[in-house]
Amino acid sequence: MMDQDKTILCIGAGYVGGPTMAMIAAKCPEYKVTVADINADRIARWNSDRLPIYEPGLEQLVAQSRGRNLFFTTDVEKGIRESKIIFVSVNTPTKTFGSGAGKAADLQFWEKSARLIMECATEDKIVVEKSTLPVRAAEAIHRILQSNTKGLNFSVLSNPEFLAEGTAVADLEHPDRVLIGSMTTPDGHDSMERLVEIYAHWVPREKILTTNVWSSEMSKLVSNAMLAQRISSINSISALCEKTEADIQEVSHAIGMDSRIGGKFLRAGVGFGGSCFKKDILNLVYLCECYNLPEVAAYWEQVVRMNEYQERRFAERIVKNMFNTVSNKRIALFGFAFKADTGDTRESPAIHISNLLIGEHASLAIYDPKAMENARADLAGTEGKIEYFEDPYEAVRGAHAIALITDWKEFTAYDYGKIFTLMEKPAFIFDGRNILDHKRLYSIGFNVFPLGKPALTHF
Ligand SMILES: NC(=O)c1ccc[n+]([C@@H]2O[C@H](COP(=O)([O-])OP(=O)(O)OC[C@H]3O[C@@H](n4cnc5c(N)ncnc54)[C@H](O)[C@@H]3O)[C@@H](O)[C@H]2O)c1
Repeated sequence: MMDQDKTILCIGAGYVGGPTMAMIAAKCPEYKVTVADINADRIARWNSDRLPIYEPGLEQLVAQSRGRNLFFTTDVEKGIRESKIIFVSVNTPTKTFGSGAGKAADLQFWEKSARLIMECATEDKIVVEKSTLPVRAAEAIHRILQSNTKGLNFSVLSNPEFLAEGTAVADLEHPDRVLIGSMTTPDGHDSMERLVEIYAHWVPREKILTTNVWSSEMSKLVSNAMLAQRISSINSISALCEKTEADIQEVSHAIGMDSRIGGKFLRAGVGFGGSCFKKDILNLVYLCECYNLPEVAAYWEQVVRMNEYQERRFAERIVKNMFNTVSNKRIALFGFAFKADTGDTRESPAIHISNLLIGEHASLAIYDPKAMENARADLAGTEGKIEYFEDPYEAVRGAHAIALITDWKEFTAYDYGKIFTLMEKPAFIFDGRNILDHKRLYSIGFNVFPLGKPALTHF
C-alpha cells in the first residue's frame, strides 16, 4: 500500500515537469509520482518510446520508473485528489493582451490550476510553485486556495527550477543548489521540511537552500536575468571587436581568467534564445515598472534589446558581405534549436534570423539534428522558399552560404572539403557560434565570417 503522504502530483508535463518528476521518481522509489497535463498528445508521448522532448539521458531516466512509481495521465482531477504534494509546472508565457501586454507574465494557466486544486481537494495539500512566477505570486495563489469553503489548509512553497535544457538530466542529478522558499509560519516551515526531505534523497543538504518565499521567487528571475545579461554584455563587445580587429574569443578568455569575472557564459553568439530568458527579464522589468523603479526597469530591458540587436546584426552581416543581396540565393542554416542538445526552438535566434533573410528574398535550406519538427511549426505560413533537410550535405547542395546558428557538436565534424565542392562559388560561411576551424575552412576556399573577429576572405 502506498503511503498517502508520499504521493506527488505535477501539473504540467513540459520541459520542466517531465524531467524533474522523472528524477524525483527515480531517486525516491517510495513516492508515487504522477505527472498530469491537459495536452493528451504530450501525455501519450510520455507514455511511449518517443518522448515529447529530447534531452540526453532522459529516455533511460523515464524508463527506470515509468509504470513503477512514475505515471503520466490526463486526469488532473484524480491526480489532485490522490496526491498530498502538488507541484505546478504549467507555462507562464509573456502576456499578449491587456494591461502589461508584452512584458508581464500571463498567469492564467497557473490560476486555473490553483482553482482546480481548490475544487478537487478533499484534504490539506502542499502546493509547490515550480513554474517561474513574478515575485509575490505565492500571496495571490495562497489567497485563492484559502478561499475554499471546505475548511482545508493549503501551504504554498516556491521551488523554482534552475535546469538548463540540453543538460537537464545532469543538472537535476547534480544541481548547484535547490531553492525552497516558504511562508514564515509553523505550517510553512513543516511543508518546507517535507520538500527538503524529498530532495535530500540525492542532493547534499548544504546545497538545499531555504529562504522566505519572496526571496525564492525573486532569485529565479534574477538568476535568469544575470545569465542573459552576461550574454548580452559579451555580444555587445563582439560588435565592437568586428570594427577594431580585436578577437572576441581572445577577449572572453582574457577577461574570464579573472576569478572575479569567471569564464562561464562569456561565449559570444547569435543571441540567447529559449523560452525563459526573454520572458523572465521582461517579467522583472514589468515588476520594476509596477513598483515605480523606471531606471531599474530600463537597465534590464536593455539586455533584451541588445539580444535583438545581435540577431539582427548577424542577418545584416550576411546580406552586406554577400554583395548586399541575398535575393534568390540559397542559404543553408546549420541548426535551428536555440542551443545544442535540445530540440527546443522557443525564442530561438534561428526564427528571427530566418524571417530577416526571407524578408531579403533568400531561399533557406534548414538542417538541425533534433529540431526539424519544431522548425517546420515555427516557420509554417511564412511566405518564402524554405526547404527542410534530413541530411546536411543535401542542405548545402547549390547553397551560396552556410549560416551556423546552433552549437551542435556534429557541425564541427563534417567534411567541409566535400561541402565546398557542393556549394556555389564564392562560398561563404557565417559561423554564429565560433565553433568551426576558421583557418582550415579558409584554406579549403571558403570566405569565413566568424563572430566578433576578423573575416578571412579571398577577395
Ligand atoms: N524550459 C526550461 O528550461 C525552464 C527552466 C526553468 C523554469 N522553467 C519554467 O517552468 C515553467 C514550465 O516551463 P516548461 O518549459 O516546462 O513549459 P511547457 O510549455 O513545456 O510545459 C507546460 C505544460 O503545462 C501544461 N498545462 C498548461 N495549463 C495546464 C493546466 N491547466 N492543466 C494541466 N496542464 C497544463 C501545458 O499543456 C504544457 O504541456 C515555466 O514557468 C517556465 O518559465 C522552464
